[in-house]
Amino acid sequence: MNQLITDRERDAVYKTIYSRRDIRQEFKAAPIPDDVLARILDAAHHAPSVGYMQPWDFIVIKDDEIKKAIKSEFEKANKEAAAKISGKRKEKYESLKLEGITESPINICVTCDRNRTGNFVIGKTHIPDMDIYSTVCAIHTIWLAARSENIGVGWVSIIDNDKIQDILKIPKDIIPIAYLCVGYVTQFSDKPDLEKAGWLSRTPIQSVIHENHWNKN
Ligand SMILES: Cc1cc2nc3c(=O)[nH]c(=O)nc-3n(C[C@H](O)[C@H](O)[C@H](O)COP(=O)(O)O)c2cc1C
Repeated sequence: MNQLITDRERDAVYKTIYSRRDIRQEFKAAPIPDDVLARILDAAHHAPSVGYMQPWDFIVIKDDEIKKAIKSEFEKANKEAAAKISGKRKEKYESLKLEGITESPINICVTCDRNRTGNFVIGKTHIPDMDIYSTVCAIHTIWLAARSENIGVGWVSIIDNDKIQDILKIPKDIIPIAYLCVGYVTQFSDKPDLEKAGWLSRTPIQSVIHENHWNKN
């Protein structure tokens, strides 16, 4: 197989990266065909992982009752988060739509099994959280693979992890890392929702690149 990426293929990869969005309000109810979902999950299963540990599992949630239970936990957590700020900032926060749990046809919980390949893992001795970072690599792969299928993904982190664990019956030694809302969308916006809402904007690339050592004033 010729492993070189052609210019057109490269452009498609960059288009996917730049046009990926966190989706909360543009979900359509249309179901995701099984073969498409299988492609996305198989792509995620090809993510890099520390010591080739592949610590992830993917819980695919279609059951409305389970989604509703998760949504109710989101609502509680969202109120707790809002209570930490006040004034105009709180008003702005409360105006943001920060999940699409029940509107999206599929939710996916991605977990990390910290003991998957025993207690010696190449690359994890000095930085034990590498298994979690590996799981996040799989999550981002879902995000990009889904975008290449014209499917949107929204990551919902405003939920108590213990509640996710209980509702989804996840064993105690497995950690939920991401709760994702997944579905076809009416549109992929050209800018992040939080930027359009005036919450924050993208920092200039020059301000995050250093040469040889940390050289910010
Ligand atoms: C770890 C993580 C957790 C996030 N949690 C939430 C969340 O709870 N609710 C939400 O609306 N967006 C969430 N997001 C999405 C970010 O707000 C979004 O990625 C960011 O605003 C940039 O927008 P973009 O992804 O469309 O480029 C999360 C993203 C990451 C990476």
